[in-house]
Amino acid sequence: MNVLLLGSGGREHALAWKMSDSPLLTRLYASPGNPGIGRVAELVKVDVADHSAVAAFCQEKKIDLVVVGPEGPLVAGIADDLRAWGIRVFGPSKAAARLEGSKGFTKDLCARFNIPTAAYGRFSDLASAKAYVEKVGAPIVIKADGLAAGKGVTVAMTLPEAIAALAACFDGSFGAAGAEVVVEEYLTGEEASFFCLCDGVTALPFGTAQDHKRVGDGDTGPNTGGMGAYSPAPVMTPEMTERTMREIIEPTMRGMANIGAPFAGILFAGLMITDQGPKLIEYNTRFGDPECQVLMMRLKDDLLVLLNAAVDGQLAHMSIRWSDEAALAVVMAARGYPGTPEKGSVIRGLDKLEGEGVQVFHAGTAVNGGALVANGGRVLNVTALGKTVGEAQAKAYAAVDRIDWPQGFCRRDIGWQAVAREKAGT
Ligand code: AMP
Ligand code: GLY
Repeated sequence: MNVLLLGSGGREHALAWKMSDSPLLTRLYASPGNPGIGRVAELVKVDVADHSAVAAFCQEKKIDLVVVGPEGPLVAGIADDLRAWGIRVFGPSKAAARLEGSKGFTKDLCARFNIPTAAYGRFSDLASAKAYVEKVGAPIVIKADGLAAGKGVTVAMTLPEAIAALAACFDGSFGAAGAEVVVEEYLTGEEASFFCLCDGVTALPFGTAQDHKRVGDGDTGPNTGGMGAYSPAPVMTPEMTERTMREIIEPTMRGMANIGAPFAGILFAGLMITDQGPKLIEYNTRFGDPECQVLMMRLKDDLLVLLNAAVDGQLAHMSIRWSDEAALAVVMAARGYPGTPEKGSVIRGLDKLEGEGVQVFHAGTAVNGGALVANGGRVLNVTALGKTVGEAQAKAYAAVDRIDWPQGFCRRDIGWQAVAREKAGT
């Protein structure tokens, strides 16, 4: 089959790499892709915002499946528009992508279908939001309702911080995404990312991961899109997975079907494992980045077979096999990230790094005059498999240390919680 993959990050490189293994694949196109993706796919430039241009490309190239990487096009309704042209798409409809596109929508769904999550209020003006925050007190969490590229959440430890975050939302710091605000109870516990492959009715667990959102070692400094991840997440024991399915994922699937917006695609639940059990922090309606990279390293089955089954409503009879090994990804970023990253610096030394369970996924690279250069904030994802998280971590950092890129940096402690647990033998 011919496949068109939309996106340009490390997540899409990992998806392309895994799909390129499939005997079902005839041709893989990626738009816009990146130089790493270009090793396994033909790079094309189709304007993703112009859904009829994407449809015309699919017809011309006889595309059998479109795989949508990022959330933006899903929230904008690309899956619905392509389906209206008769094109098969892996990714949720616009109505189902509201699980990521509107935090208030998801909170109301949780309230209606009894899904455990933080207590909340929804507000569209500063005065009433402020009154609620003052009543509840700090710590408290302020969230812009819409898509804000991972920047719309403030975990406020004090009231002045909370009020400043509210003011920023209503002042337009997040554009239309901040016109409405969700204010949430502060939850404590351990976080985990939990993925399910969904076909509208059935949700199949699709791996767990833990990411590292802060830019600096020891979880310090500003939030980023993610500086590294590992899989599996030790906190997601079989019992915790079973509870999460029963208390969170299955009611969500039934709830979405019930309101006429069945969810098909990948459902990414951000969880807080609290003393009372798993609670939903948020949903994303796409793979995580860099969580996808570690999942793809561990997936033993044919990704294209699974994506097709999700699109065709055939997941009920499927099972998914994972490697027993752990995977860990270290994000190498360009100096300046998550502020304004320096672009254009030359990256050397990537040859001969790969193999024996090590893969380097490109996230923000370009080719300039024959040289590979940095072209974004998060630039490379150095990913490794190991018998333990500790072994995967050692292999990933050994590869990082062979990359010649003085303008790049990474955290040196990705996986620290899991490695500490392994050392303690718990
Ligand atoms: P989000 O963009 O919703 O994933 O939020 C970013 C981060 O903020 C999460 O990964 C959590 O660390 C934190 N967070 C979000 N909501 C809460 C909450 N209700 N209580 C505590 N921390 C939260
Ligand atoms: N790494 C977090 C995300 O993809 O949302």
